Amino acid sequence: MTSTPAPAPAATPGRDGTAALDSYRRAAIIGGGVIGISWAGLFLARGIDVVINDPRPDIEDLVRAGLDEITPALAALGLPTDHLTDGLRFEADLATAVADVDIVQENGPERLELKQQIWGTIERSAPAHALLATSTSSIPATAIAEALRHPERLVVGHPFNPPHLVPLVEIVPGRQTSPAVVERARAFYAALGKRPQVLRKEIPGFVANRLQSALFREAVSLVAQGVVTEQELDDIVTASIGLRWAVGGPFRTFHLGGGPEGLPHFIEHLGRAMATDMWPALGNPTFDDTTVATLVSQAREAFGDDTVAQLAAVRDRAQIALMRALGETPDANSGSAERA
Ligand SMILES: NC(=O)c1ccc[n+]([C@@H]2O[C@H](COP(=O)([O-])OP(=O)(O)OC[C@H]3O[C@@H](n4cnc5c(N)ncnc54)[C@H](O)[C@@H]3O)[C@@H](O)[C@H]2O)c1
Repeated sequence: MTSTPAPAPAATPGRDGTAALDSYRRAAIIGGGVIGISWAGLFLARGIDVVINDPRPDIEDLVRAGLDEITPALAALGLPTDHLTDGLRFEADLATAVADVDIVQENGPERLELKQQIWGTIERSAPAHALLATSTSSIPATAIAEALRHPERLVVGHPFNPPHLVPLVEIVPGRQTSPAVVERARAFYAALGKRPQVLRKEIPGFVANRLQSALFREAVSLVAQGVVTEQELDDIVTASIGLRWAVGGPFRTFHLGGGPEGLPHFIEHLGRAMATDMWPALGNPTFDDTTVATLVSQAREAFGDDTVAQLAAVRDRAQIALMRALGETPDANSGSAERA
């Protein structure tokens, strides 16, 4: 952790506008599961033709049903959805699927060897100009690109689920990813209306999921210890740090918690005690049988009356309302997220 940080990457998208999408007419979505469907919906709504490659025999039905589910959210974001699936097709052969595309967004299973195999084929078959991005949520591009002849072409474009809705895309270059590819990826996601953030160092799990994981670890521990139920813990989060973090992250929050002197005072006043007393006492749970049984039965009690699709629709509506209030909804005309 002593190396010099790389030069500052762009923290927020420029107003690249949809003109930046002009060179992206065709996309290949590799893996049409949860993330693939969401990316496909957003790409299609932005006027990019999409070909889906996925070995599941029922993939066409799954993707079409998934797109039907997310269409209301796309429409609520102000994106055109009347002819959403006109530019959609399916291709079972991976090499053929990527042969004439401008971007490949890979969303296959989270297994290194499989991703290496998929990317080997993509590299041999995709046009030289195509932007090559993987949605992996934890595997470094350096590892996936190990067997590639041109590792400089691959970059992680990690969305936060669901990609059609949540602004963040973490762009994580591998050791050999070229700066030009990083910049192209940043401009592409910004033009889609996302808020791309380039990481300065490759680290497993990237940033958003490491943060989420740290909080979830303590959440599981608190529920397993019987301090609160799952529902009570969720209520505590949405009524406090959830709301707060939508308008200012942990550092801004504690800067404001430090009074007129800001973060330095916070660290002296509360931070040091937090580090010595609280951090060592944080939970370190495991998913043993008892913990899993507790979590599963409480989830059934708290959320079991509705299907996941119903719960997701409610979440999406609330998420869009919140994004609108914060000026975070993408502008269908300019591409980039409009910030207040
Ligand atoms: N689910 C999330 O919250 C989330 C968020 C961000 C990123 N991701 C990442 O996105 C990727 C996909 O995750 P998901 O949640 O959509 O998984 P998923 O299981 O819903 O979808 C994976 C799809 O890949 C298909 N597949 C299997 N073998 C394949 C192959 N050889 N070629 C092409 N497709 C193949 C499967 O049939 C399946 O439809 C993973 O790398 C994951 O880490 C997931």
